[in-house]
Amino acid sequence: MKKIRLYGNWKMNMTRGETLAFFAEFEKSAKPLAAVVGKALEVAVFPPFTALWAAGEAIRAMEGPAPLLGAQNVHFEPKGAFTGEVSIPMVEECGATHVIIGHSERRHIFGESDGLIAQKTKACLAAGLTPVLCYGETLEERESGRAFEVMGRQLCSALEPLSADELGRIVYAYEPVWAIGTGKSATADEAQEVCAWSKELIAGLAKGGVDAAVLYGGSVKGANAKELLSMEAIDGALVGGASLKAESFLEIYTAYAEA
Ligand code: PGA
Repeated sequence: MKKIRLYGNWKMNMTRGETLAFFAEFEKSAKPLAAVVGKALEVAVFPPFTALWAAGEAIRAMEGPAPLLGAQNVHFEPKGAFTGEVSIPMVEECGATHVIIGHSERRHIFGESDGLIAQKTKACLAAGLTPVLCYGETLEERESGRAFEVMGRQLCSALEPLSADELGRIVYAYEPVWAIGTGKSATADEAQEVCAWSKELIAGLAKGGVDAAVLYGGSVKGANAKELLSMEAIDGALVGGASLKAESFLEIYTAYAEA
């Protein structure tokens, strides 16, 4: 069976207390998965900044299988006069190894441009962090037949300046905007089509030789995990709502693996 990446994006949820409760629950729920975590299953959680340190401490104290830690965003400069922003050294200090870049909520609610996302991607790679680069079309873009044009622009603007080695260090996350938080996931065929297309695009930019990991995100839960994760081009899931409880989060992997 292929390696599955299960990444949990908590968004603006979870206080420090709720974070500690999550990890206590995770220790119990992950026990049956002890043989696969870190091997066939790579789990990562992305708490809000205010819980990142507590999450790192909880992870470091774990005896059983532990998840990797990531941040939901960073600024591309290492420090300075950027009120409200958080730097790469700050999240690294908490134990983060991954950073979500270009999530559709950052693009659409906070107006992050392709240029800014490219700068953040580059800065994460330079620091040795793994960017989880998100891209995806809105419903209007899909219905008007422009989905691939939009995603091509989102991907190429961030990826064209990078080397083949850098392209291979990114985890890619296809997240159709219309499927995020709506309960209406893309079908397995729709997700497969975009993930396979993404891999070709990335391999083209890298001039071959890159085996890119591409996740699908958008209303993934236990009930649709098997269908989606069994698709050949889908290497895992970026999960929002279902990642807030350890049990529903890990159920996504067990639903896939048990079948
Ligand atoms: P969702 O969010 O699983 O709640 O749809 C996914 C995401 O935004 O990463």
